[in-house]
Amino acid sequence: MHTPVLLNQVIEAMEIKKDGLYIDATFGEGGYTREILSKGGRVLAIDLDEDQIKNSELSRIKLVQGNFGDIEKIARENNFFPVDGVVFDLGLSMRQISQSGRGFSFKKYFEPLDMRMSTETEMTAKYLLNHCSESELFEVFAKNSEEINSQKIAREIIIKRQTKKLETVGDLINCIDKAVGEVDSNVYKRIFQAIRIQVNEEFENLKNGLNGAMKIIKNDGKVAVVTFHSIEDRIVKNFSKNPGIKLLNKKVIMNRRGRTFEKSAKLRLLIKNNI
Ligand SMILES: C[S@@+](CC[C@H](N)C(=O)[O-])C[C@H]1O[C@@H](n2cnc3c(N)ncnc32)[C@H](O)[C@@H]1O
Repeated sequence: MHTPVLLNQVIEAMEIKKDGLYIDATFGEGGYTREILSKGGRVLAIDLDEDQIKNSELSRIKLVQGNFGDIEKIARENNFFPVDGVVFDLGLSMRQISQSGRGFSFKKYFEPLDMRMSTETEMTAKYLLNHCSESELFEVFAKNSEEINSQKIAREIIIKRQTKKLETVGDLINCIDKAVGEVDSNVYKRIFQAIRIQVNEEFENLKNGLNGAMKIIKNDGKVAVVTFHSIEDRIVKNFSKNPGIKLLNKKVIMNRRGRTFEKSAKLRLLIKNNI
């Protein structure tokens, strides 16, 4: 079961209204949806991953397999607008990391290098790692993770695949180990996250999702975004500078569990303010 970080802070900030309309743009295992329902809100929930939809036991909601980049279209097709609030809780759920079998975790040595959130996505981690040039791989790693060993890791992947294609998580781990030597597990996490972001076009989807959300939200409606990556947070912050949008919390609400970089979550709250 996934325990969403910042759940209480998000729900409190959203001020859920009885019979209000809310979109949970990243349904996952339903943590946010359950809370909104318990406060009397009505929910349209979206998830890109077909398994998240199949595994849901929740009734009383509209559950759509789709990309939140298409949130405006999905809301209109389901006649679920204008809405009072939208929640984006980015990244992966615990079930995806531990049970999906798609190679999201650097600890799952024998899983295939897939990393797609939806099996309908064409690009896979395996394709990317075996077909991109060294400079393209470097760019993916450096741009999406700012890992200082990006160049060495890209080089090692090119050398390795001259003899055998990379197939499994273990193959990628071996390349990172060889390139970096003594590896801190944060290097694995950063490289895996960088690849996942590229495969799933996560930054583009976030930009489209925020744009779409603003088109279907009521004036004064709220959009809550929980991010786990500094670039995602920057996208939200920059988006909030558009006319008609106000950032409610100038000081970002953070949750830092331990000291590992990818567990620190940030919440930003946007309000539509078109008057
Ligand atoms: C951190 S989990 C959400 C967890 C959820 N709040 C809960 O309480 O269980 C993120 C979810 O967003 C989904 N997701 C990621 N990118 C998406 C996108 N572009 N469109 C729709 N869903 C997406 C993932 O498949 C995953 O299930």
